[in-house]
Amino acid sequence: MTTSKLNPERSGAQPEDRRKFIAVASALVLGIAGGLMGLFNLIFLRPRVTYGAPSKVRVGKPESYSPGSTIELPADSIVVKREGDSFMAISTVCTHLGCTVKATEIGFDCPCHGSSYDSEGNVVAGPAPKALSWYRISLTPNGELEVDKQQVVKANTYMELPS
Ligand code: FES
Repeated sequence: MTTSKLNPERSGAQPEDRRKFIAVASALVLGIAGGLMGLFNLIFLRPRVTYGAPSKVRVGKPESYSPGSTIELPADSIVVKREGDSFMAISTVCTHLGCTVKATEIGFDCPCHGSSYDSEGNVVAGPAPKALSWYRISLTPNGELEVDKQQVVKANTYMELPS
């Protein structure tokens, strides 16, 4: 080992320069680390919520439903029926374990465990423990039908078209 490596004054490098370099390098590293830590804290604090599917579903204009028609909307898990000028919306989620029921001539059948419901969603055959839910259906200001799946209404609650 040579003495020039041990003694900075003999190697030509100024001790003040090294101190400044180390101070600047340390400040830079600490600044980057602090910045990254702040960024990760912001990412951590950001709420990670999913709001799910919207509860209100627009299902078209009343004119698109012929009187007496039953339209299944599988993507929204509802059936919309028109009787005369009245509309109703009923859930197609089986009250047993949540399978999707299918509309039939006389009501609804669940393909999973054989529950049957009448046309109003009442249980005809188990194991379903309760009737299918009816949802509030209304007209939007632009004349579309809107089903609110968060508002369960009594069975046989129809929405009349204004005359
Ligand atoms: Fe419908 Fe079981 S999920 S009967």
